[in-house]
Amino acid sequence: MPQTTIEGLSVYCEGDEAHQAIIFLHGFPFDASMWDAQIEELSDSYYCVSYDIRGLGASAVDDGQFTMESFVDDVETIVNRLKLKKPIICGFSMGGYIALRCVERLSDTFSALVLCDSVANADGNEAKLKRASILKRITQEGLEGFVEDFMNVCFSQAYKLSQGHLLQERITLSRTFSPIGVKGCLIAMLSRTDTTDFLPHIRIPTLLCCGEEDTITPPKVMQAMCDAIPNATFQLIENSAHVAPMENAKALNQALSEFLKGL
Ligand code: MLT
Repeated sequence: MPQTTIEGLSVYCEGDEAHQAIIFLHGFPFDASMWDAQIEELSDSYYCVSYDIRGLGASAVDDGQFTMESFVDDVETIVNRLKLKKPIICGFSMGGYIALRCVERLSDTFSALVLCDSVANADGNEAKLKRASILKRITQEGLEGFVEDFMNVCFSQAYKLSQGHLLQERITLSRTFSPIGVKGCLIAMLSRTDTTDFLPHIRIPTLLCCGEEDTITPPKVMQAMCDAIPNATFQLIENSAHVAPMENAKALNQALSEFLKGL
């Protein structure tokens, strides 16, 4: 995929730039390649832009001090540099936290919003303490054990059995990331604002997708988010836990294509 670097971010652009742009934001601790199946499907008709979130993948780690706000600044920089006109913003999990805050902060920039396996609420005390213990673990042990344990919670049992080699490749890739960058993302997530009150004010068409076995961002939480957004549709993705874009790319792509056709 053609790669370009924008202020230290590794950005990938696929398709005809005259087409409607979609900007894809990956989750934690993934990189832009988690969207490969969606970009392959959509890049004949859409200008697909993805990037490695700062601190992860091939993007710069800098000082490793990130906030959700600095992640939104990065999206704004990409949109401006690539001169994207009213892009659709599509975020998975942590990428969804960024996408939702982008829509709240950069009003009028985007024409539609897609949230996959993501939530609007900020971390409560329990989640903050869990992140603190992960930060400590990574400081003491590095990424090896954490990445394996975390990925095992993300993916369904069925995916582990049938696509175990792909999961192993993903674990191997994420273990190569910078521990400082990974910890920076954890701190950005635990310090993010809560966007729940903003949901009724979203004025653009919104699609929410959630794996039926997702225990990290559960379907009933996403259904409630959908109910709070004026022009939103909820799609449950069967045979998937947290990582619907990878675990059931076919169903996710179908939901995404139908939503895009309706815009
Ligand atoms: C993700 O998949 O991006 C993470 O599970 C998000 C989180 O830890 O809150």
